[in-house]
Amino acid sequence: MINIIKQSDSISPRSNSVASGRFITVEGGEGAGKTTQIAFMRDALQRRGLPVVLTREPGGTALGEEIRTLLLSHHHEGMALTTETLLMFAARAEHLERVIRPVLAAGHWVLCDRFTDATYAYQGGGRGLSLEQIATLENWVQGDLRPDLTLLLDVPVEIGLERAARRSTADRFEREEKAFFERVRATYLQRAQQHPDRYRRVDAARPIAQVQAEVELLLAEWLERR
Ligand SMILES: Nc1ncnc2c1ncn2[C@@H]1O[C@H](COP(=O)(O)OP(=O)(O)OP(=O)(O)O)[C@@H](O)[C@H]1O
Ligand SMILES: [Mg+2]
Repeated sequence: MINIIKQSDSISPRSNSVASGRFITVEGGEGAGKTTQIAFMRDALQRRGLPVVLTREPGGTALGEEIRTLLLSHHHEGMALTTETLLMFAARAEHLERVIRPVLAAGHWVLCDRFTDATYAYQGGGRGLSLEQIATLENWVQGDLRPDLTLLLDVPVEIGLERAARRSTADRFEREEKAFFERVRATYLQRAQQHPDRYRRVDAARPIAQVQAEVELLLAEWLERR
């Protein structure tokens, strides 16, 4: 489902048109329904004839997916927080260079399952790295590129963890204690308040179809305004 664009693939800018791609990210804690809802969002955009690339973080490129494996693996329990954060941004640098920037420059849309807000939430809120240090890396790696729209799927921690546990065995992050995920959730909510123009919060504790209906409505409203 995820498009991993190889270095050799070329995306050529459309001629005679100003690039009009938009960058949309989906965020939220474990099991919030990000991967489920982002697929519906891709369908909704495609129905409108918008060319869209679906991708994810950490990952989204061949090298980025290898970094993802390192980050999620239990072989690296106790990884230093600086290492974890730099690996996240290393994967992100590759993703921006190989996928996100070229796709946007070609006038296509990028839908990304997690992005830098997740670094603020997990490495910042969850693990206690200073938000200023994350902002320094964000400015360095991204320049002024920020998502145009961020959908926050907000769900109580226990519900999200239960869903994630039903789906698969826990990765290195999913084995954290409940208080960690409470801090992650609080940080996401705080960021949504700080960036009201970019963020839309959705109550993701409801059944999939209800969440989907609200996501599609929010997307339709946002598309009208842009
Ligand atoms: N609103 C919902 N109600 C009940 N179950 C849901 C809902 N949304 C998703 N699920 C189910 O919960 C599980 C986790 O969903 P999904 O993988 O979309 O979450 P995620 O946010 O991408 O999780 P992760 O953070 O682990 O990537 C899946 O089995 C999915 O079918
Ligand atoms: Mg997912």
